Amino acid sequence: MSEPPRYVTVEDYLPVARAAVPPDVWDYYEGGAGDEWTLRENRRAFDRWVLRPRFLRSVGAHPDTSTSVLDVSVRSPVLVAPWAYQRLAHPDGELATARAAAAAGTVMIVSSTAESVLDEVQAEGGGPKWWQLYVAEDRAFTASMLERVVAAGYEAICWTVDFPVSGLRRRDTRSGFVMPLGVGDSDYIFDASISWDDLAWIKGRAAGLPVIVKGVLTAEDAELAVQAGADAIVVSNHGGRQLDRSPAGLEALPEVAAQVSGRVPVLMDGGVRRGTDVLIALALGASAVLVGRPTIWGLAAEGEAGVAGVLEILRLEFENAMALTGSRTVDEIGSALVRPAP
Ligand code: FNR
Ligand code: LAC
Repeated sequence: MSEPPRYVTVEDYLPVARAAVPPDVWDYYEGGAGDEWTLRENRRAFDRWVLRPRFLRSVGAHPDTSTSVLDVSVRSPVLVAPWAYQRLAHPDGELATARAAAAAGTVMIVSSTAESVLDEVQAEGGGPKWWQLYVAEDRAFTASMLERVVAAGYEAICWTVDFPVSGLRRRDTRSGFVMPLGVGDSDYIFDASISWDDLAWIKGRAAGLPVIVKGVLTAEDAELAVQAGADAIVVSNHGGRQLDRSPAGLEALPEVAAQVSGRVPVLMDGGVRRGTDVLIALALGASAVLVGRPTIWGLAAEGEAGVAGVLEILRLEFENAMALTGSRTVDEIGSALVRPAP
């Protein structure tokens, strides 16, 4: 008999990851803001939906999980969320994640905190990369970073708007963990005065690249984002790390999708841990989802192979959920596949 696999679900990476990183770094990665209500709510939100499977639709054993997001073809609608300081999880850091995302045929969104290795990460693995932008107080620095992003070959800019200031992360306060901002040579202080006007400023420096707005949770902000020229929106509460008691990404998704009404793609993140979660998010109007912590667990546990393993588990689970709901293609996934749980 062959050895059973060590990693069957994405959570199987978690204990291995936890043992591999110092406790204060673990708390920084895993923790949320305040009482972590929103962090828990991101998972609970999926429990409030059930699937309505359909049969006899000639699905075949391997439905097509591929799709495209902002003209980028991906093997599955699961993208790697931007997350900070990946070298604290594994010495290969962002480079390992870049190779794993490329091999999985998906997009890696690279955190602004990797600014000092912006070029190296873009070139690694050959897969599509989007640059996550934090606007710094120093606008000249931000402008030159955008120039480097464009020159390096990033295919989109993902502007994170939910971080005028950091959320109150109690675990970090208790452990004394300090975010190593000022990574690289720059003094990278996030600008707390950012406003919708800045989207035009960013677009003016994006050389025609699509600009995605990440961190929208209301119909009002979704409308402002579209009016200001956003090319896509990510419904997100930053993994429960910013405002505690803000809604789950999944819960805010229908409101935002209804407001946007197809004008631009809407993505979501927060708590995606299963292929069925991906399917529920798509049925509620998302074009794709981002996963954060599962890729952290994979990277910390096994480096590149761990991130690859996490992405493959999610893709296979999603494929299975498609087959068992009668969905031959991603385009066929619609609101008729879900209803509120009893
Ligand atoms: C993040 N996130 C994040 N977002 C962003 O735009 N820029 C960043 O640098 C970071 N950094 C970061 C660090 C860590 C440790 C975590 C856990 C998260 C938020 C991230 O992109 C995403 O919105 C959430 O992680 C999604 O939720 P899940 O999948 O972690 O539940
Ligand atoms: C965080 C930032 C850096 O969530 O995005 O820690």
